[in-house]
Amino acid sequence: MPELRKKIVPLRADLNIDGLEMSENDKTLLIYNATIIFHVAASVQFNLKLEAATMINVNGTRFILYLAKRMQKLQSFIHVSTMYSNCYERHIEERFYTYPIDYKNLTNLSRNTEILKISSQWPNTYVFTKAIAEILLENEGQGFPLGIFRPSINTAMGMDLRFQEVENEFESAMHRGLQLLFERLFQPWFWIDWLYYLTSSGREYKSLINIFHKFSNEIILKKKALRQSQSNHITARKKKGFLDLLLDENEKTDNPLSDDQLQAQVHTFLLASQDTTAAAIIWTLFLLGNNLEHQEKLHEELEKHFQDSETLADGTKLSQLKYLDRVIKETLRLYPSVPVISRTLTENVKIGDYMLPQNIEVVLSLIVIHRNPEFWPDPTKFDPDRFLPENTKARNQYAYIPFSAGPRNCIGQKFALLVIKTLLTAILRKWRVKSVKTPDMIHPHISFTYRPGEEVFLYFIPKK
Ligand code: HEM
Repeated sequence: MPELRKKIVPLRADLNIDGLEMSENDKTLLIYNATIIFHVAASVQFNLKLEAATMINVNGTRFILYLAKRMQKLQSFIHVSTMYSNCYERHIEERFYTYPIDYKNLTNLSRNTEILKISSQWPNTYVFTKAIAEILLENEGQGFPLGIFRPSINTAMGMDLRFQEVENEFESAMHRGLQLLFERLFQPWFWIDWLYYLTSSGREYKSLINIFHKFSNEIILKKKALRQSQSNHITARKKKGFLDLLLDENEKTDNPLSDDQLQAQVHTFLLASQDTTAAAIIWTLFLLGNNLEHQEKLHEELEKHFQDSETLADGTKLSQLKYLDRVIKETLRLYPSVPVISRTLTENVKIGDYMLPQNIEVVLSLIVIHRNPEFWPDPTKFDPDRFLPENTKARNQYAYIPFSAGPRNCIGQKFALLVIKTLLTAILRKWRVKSVKTPDMIHPHISFTYRPGEEVFLYFIPKK
């Protein structure tokens, strides 16, 4: 949206205080002007006392609803809850759940031992009070244009890293830092550290690295605190992310990783996993939105396997979706999330008329390899059937290497494909997509990841 920031009017409110302590003027402004509410305000502090969490997450929601009911132009009230509001359930459905609690009296009850016993079904006061807020909305929002969104952001770190936020300092630092690093790769004179750090890019890079370190350090500290608070909660500790597994190992071994080593592992996984997977998902939707006949084949496959079921796709189901598999492979051929890899030559290598000497760094472009007409006729055409078994058999195995090859190939590839397929099926079981722009209109941004250089706009057309 052009000049978005100029259109934002900040209003003061405090979720810790009954009635939010909003001025009458601000309330009037909202009552007469607001058309859509996204209620995202909450405390995500997992170890808040129940009373404080109730105040912010339950009473805060009640007050916003109360205010919303007075808004004359209101068309929609979207309450952002969390996928974990019913996390003790194996499968979470798109419906309201009931709890043996009188939510109206929760503030008074919050010191009561009975309530503490009931709430112990949830791993922390955050998810418990988010669940109660949903019940409040179900009861008090009857007949109101209400929607509840339960985002689930359980990542390799086993916690919400808030990557969905528009202004995520870490994400911006990561993108800019990778960009600078990529530029440095092609300026060998700046490989000399002291020289590089004298330049403005070098100084900027250093400050971005500090942001990066601060962020990963916070992740580790938060994770350790979370594990401490959940140490007796078996359900919560059963769901383990990569960082949990590392910390589990650290607790068991006599020779644990130091904090610096832990941090280095977190960096590798954050850098390697997040952008790559997100880019693959957006490119796939973009290509499907441009190739409707292939998208239709995919819908047929999804309908055959899922029919009207609302059940989530599990690993077995996902592995049966062969056309989806080919669609993702073809997307990663045209838009490999990692566009270049590099290797140091351990011996002299002769390629055609060129002799590449031992010990030099060779950069390989996966984009060029994946579009080589010798292996890929009509290389820019999106054609998932290139990956039919009969079409793959005779092809050189190194003509397609989106996850690289050899002993240092991507260790997250199976996980990445699972995430990509889970997300794509969840979207495409409900929606058809149509792209606003064609591939020749979108300029990719090439750095260590290969992302669209601008927003990709898609129409989402409900299937039912
Ligand atoms: C579509 C998604 C992804 C693509 C296309 C991709 C691709 C790659 C590529 C090309 C490499 C370079 C290997 C080399 O230098 O030869 C790599 C390395 C790596 N990837 Fe991925 N990746 C993806 C997702 C992930 C995810 C989700 C994780 C972790 C959960 C991950 C973890 C790693 C790690 C740790 C390395 C370094 C491996 C090593 O140096 O031994 N990747 N990835």
